[in-house]
Amino acid sequence: MIRLENLTKHFEVPGKEPVIAANNVSMEVDEGEICIFLGPSGCGKTTALKMINKLIPKTSGKIYIAGKDTDDLDPITLRREIGYVIQQIGLFPNMTIEANICVVPDLLKMDKKKSRVKARELMEMVNLDPNIFLKRYPRELSGGQQQRIGVIRALAADPPVMLMDEPFGAIDPINRAVIQDEFLKLNSKLGKTVLFVSHDIDEAVKMGDKIAIFREGVLEQCDTPDEILSNPANQFIKDFVGTDRALKRLKLIKVSDAIMPFLMTVKSDDSLEKVAEEMRINNAHIAVMVGPRGRARGYITKGEIKGDQRGIVSEYIDPIPGTIHVNDNLHDAVSQMYAHASDWLAVVDDDGAYKGYITQHIIASLLGEAPRKQGDTIS
Ligand SMILES: Nc1ncnc2c1ncn2[C@@H]1O[C@H](COP(=O)(O)OP(=O)(O)OP(=O)(O)O)[C@@H](O)[C@H]1O
Ligand SMILES: [Mg+2]
Repeated sequence: MIRLENLTKHFEVPGKEPVIAANNVSMEVDEGEICIFLGPSGCGKTTALKMINKLIPKTSGKIYIAGKDTDDLDPITLRREIGYVIQQIGLFPNMTIEANICVVPDLLKMDKKKSRVKARELMEMVNLDPNIFLKRYPRELSGGQQQRIGVIRALAADPPVMLMDEPFGAIDPINRAVIQDEFLKLNSKLGKTVLFVSHDIDEAVKMGDKIAIFREGVLEQCDTPDEILSNPANQFIKDFVGTDRALKRLKLIKVSDAIMPFLMTVKSDDSLEKVAEEMRINNAHIAVMVGPRGRARGYITKGEIKGDQRGIVSEYIDPIPGTIHVNDNLHDAVSQMYAHASDWLAVVDDDGAYKGYITQHIIASLLGEAPRKQGDTIS
């Protein structure tokens, strides 16, 4: 969808060496992908973005969008296909929010009524009440609210490509997480191809299908978040992603991908004799007791019933240490384990029904730092 070939930018500075803001950058972003441009301040992220919509002329190299060489397109035609969220938000202070959102559709002489309806829809999508905000001016909005408007203004003409330069930079961490989620949800419906500038590795890991990391105009690595975190290409990338990169990878893996495939459940009135036999046959170390609606009520371990095999399950049961939802990620799971001082958790679905369990050992082995053992144990 977007292909950069040896894209290069030299800024001429009178009396000095030129600044090389992009140095032979080659990369490709597929249709519908979100690619994050990441790197320290001054590494050339904004410059790369602005060359794509011709706000900055390139020195050399090629830019293709949907197979078309952008050298053959005039800037106006090109920008029709590209929504742009600028780094400083850049709402027009003397225009209402509605007029701001409709700037590009109006310039393109799109149907006015339709673009006003669309503006309302977009406001709803980012949780801003159109009845309250459409008639206000930018100064009457908080920084975070203005950034939301900046994003939906870029979406208003429904372009297939979005260039977003630190679109959530002015928002506090809590609201930033909310707006990141909103944007991911929105784009899963809209399917735009997005180039998104950030200098926050956590944001990049969360938002990106791909991450492109730059240093002084050079593209140092462009890969999936998991590849960047597990195989950083060089020391610079390693330092940039941080020493906690293993923990960051946990956010990329869902509980459902780490769940122990084997699941042995028992009922409160099952006899210990029967349970012991089943555990032996299945080589299980733990059996979870479920209630009538499939909820995990407690558990029993092999160790507890080895000697005395009389009685029923409910007499020997320990409470479940903690639960985690199948759709949560392993970062949440590890936090839960520490909160409950447990090395395993019961996994549940929306109805609270027991689906299996995960262990610290499995998580470590998924991160490639410990071999997966047969018959994973719970102590
Ligand atoms: N018009 C210009 N003339 C000369 N140098 C420029 C010009 N615009 C940008 N630069 C230089 O090009 C380099 C890349 O700048 P750019 O704005 O692309 O960085 P960035 O990665 O977006 O940084 P930030 O994270 O701070 O926004 C910097 O060294 C900057 O000083
Ligand atoms: Mg910038």
